[in-house]
Amino acid sequence: MARNLTSLQKANKKTDLKTSFKALKYIPRFFKEIWLINPGMFLANGSLRLINAFAPVIILWVGKIIIDLIIDQTKLTAAEQDYSQIWKFVAIELGIFIVSDVINRLITLTDGLMGDLYSNSSSVTIINKTKELGIAQLEDPDFYDKLERARTQTNSRVNLLSNSLSQVQSVISIITLMAGLIFFEPLLIILLVLSIIPSFINEVKFSNKSYSLARSWTAERRELDYLRYIGANSNTAKEIKLFGLTGFVADRFKTLSDKYYELNKNIVIKKTGYGIIFNILGVLSYYGAYVYIILRVLTGVLTIGELTFLSGSFNRLRNNLQQFFSRFTRIAESALYLKDYFDFIDLKVPEHEGEYLPLPKEIQEGFFIKDLYFRYPGGEDDVLKGVNFRINAGEKMAFVGQNGAGKTTLIKLILRFYEPTSGEILLDGVNINQYDPLEYQAMFGVIFQDFFKYEFTLKENIAVGNIDELENQERIETAASLSLADEVVSAMPEGYEQQLGRRFVRGQELSGGQWQKVALARAYMKDANVLILDEPTSALDAKAEFDVFERFINLTTGKTSIIISHRFSTVRMADRIIVIEDGKISSIGTHEELMQDEGLYAELFELQAAGYQ
Ligand SMILES: Nc1ncnc2c1ncn2[C@@H]1O[C@H](COP(=O)(O)OP(=O)(O)OP(=O)(O)O)[C@@H](O)[C@H]1O
Ligand SMILES: [Mg+2]
Repeated sequence: MARNLTSLQKANKKTDLKTSFKALKYIPRFFKEIWLINPGMFLANGSLRLINAFAPVIILWVGKIIIDLIIDQTKLTAAEQDYSQIWKFVAIELGIFIVSDVINRLITLTDGLMGDLYSNSSSVTIINKTKELGIAQLEDPDFYDKLERARTQTNSRVNLLSNSLSQVQSVISIITLMAGLIFFEPLLIILLVLSIIPSFINEVKFSNKSYSLARSWTAERRELDYLRYIGANSNTAKEIKLFGLTGFVADRFKTLSDKYYELNKNIVIKKTGYGIIFNILGVLSYYGAYVYIILRVLTGVLTIGELTFLSGSFNRLRNNLQQFFSRFTRIAESALYLKDYFDFIDLKVPEHEGEYLPLPKEIQEGFFIKDLYFRYPGGEDDVLKGVNFRINAGEKMAFVGQNGAGKTTLIKLILRFYEPTSGEILLDGVNINQYDPLEYQAMFGVIFQDFFKYEFTLKENIAVGNIDELENQERIETAASLSLADEVVSAMPEGYEQQLGRRFVRGQELSGGQWQKVALARAYMKDANVLILDEPTSALDAKAEFDVFERFINLTTGKTSIIISHRFSTVRMADRIIVIEDGKISSIGTHEELMQDEGLYAELFELQAAGYQ
């Protein structure tokens, strides 16, 4: 798959300085969230920072007093000298140093702890938000990029916290240091401003560039992650080795990552180059100021103590201001990631107008699928093309049809994962979008064709079908015996507590059919009104499949159910069979009726039967 990188990058919105500044408006909301997580720690951190903001100017001032005292003393005779004042101030300076160091460590500690708390809570927020969103949204690639940025930028949000708090502290320090400078030599302020402007411009220009690059590469970074995953992973190892794909995957990774490296390299090299030049300018201005201060001392306007104080203040101010600007651009940059996060958690979930109708406790009539058309978002063709049929309450239906005919899609629409393009689905005469979606979906027990293999314990793998019953061992065992998962359990050294999969220590990998039995048990974890099994037994051996269906049929007497299967021995047990051909229903009837029809059903049945003879 060749990628046109430039067009891809152009397609992404260009991020300029203005967008960065605009993103700063998310910071108050960010602080509010942190405040809500732990107000005590937030307050403590703020107070400590406030105290330490005054430390630099106080230390410089005490230093000035000590030097002036020493010089005064040297002018006196030995008899007149008295060092007690000097020692007093030295002790004060020492005290301030120690306290300020302790405070600094407490600040770092609370920064780290608050960061951890925030990172945990925002991860939970993201998981919960994902639950609210529809399947259609989750499958959308643009959306996926947003999610990716929200998810992976947790670190940058944690840095944002300490950066913005440091910024406030810095501002207070800068103001106090400037006050001292203005008091003695206001002229120095002009030199200071001149020395700082170039580095500010440098910062803004380049950090903005690297952010734009990182952002416009979200899709490629996703591909890089994916390649890294398939290249080194126990699930893919078999094919990668057997097909000799390592080189292919590694090359593809290298080509893409080299491209990014080059683009990024250019930016950082330029930034460093300009940074060096601008810094030399800054140093020159500092020495200009220094010479000026020395001259003022030589002409008797300033004392030696004031010299140390002023040159020290000037130097600290320059550093502080430089940090202030670079931190500022970092804050603006992180704020853009913050915007991604808030954009994600603010994503609108389509609201239902008015009240939902109450869901029937027991299905009275059944489902009516009425003139249903459906096309996947972004798709080119209709997948379902005018589907009409009823599923009566308590009826056992089977869907058959060739790969890609639209069987799974039809199930997804019945489950309300997508809105039909046109037509409607009625339950007891009411359009299903009149019911609360979560309540409606809770009515079903479903096992999908591509069910997920959770790397949890065996027990948890069954309980995910109704996680509220995780501690209900009896229920879990009943479900397991219905799906034949109990046979899997007894083969495991740790029984129900067996960790599955290979990712974690003592994890046990299962065979395809064993996984399917475990997944199938999920469908039995609740008293679902409607059971849907999408090819639940494709990996089971013939005997197991027969057993599973016998149990299924006994259990579901009086319940509505839909089974999708390519095995006609299973399908023929259904009350009615729906044959789907290329998004349309080609026939409906019992096994006997369809056999007499001599359509696709009879043809496929004969084919399969011939294979068994
Ligand atoms: N999430 C999706 N987005 C876009 N197109 C999809 C999506 N899922 C399926 N399709 C397309 O819809 C068509 C019907 O797919 P569907 O999964 O419903 O087939 P099926 O009848 O269940 O086939 P099988 O027997 O192989 O499971 C296929 O052409 C497929 O490419
Ligand atoms: Mg399918």
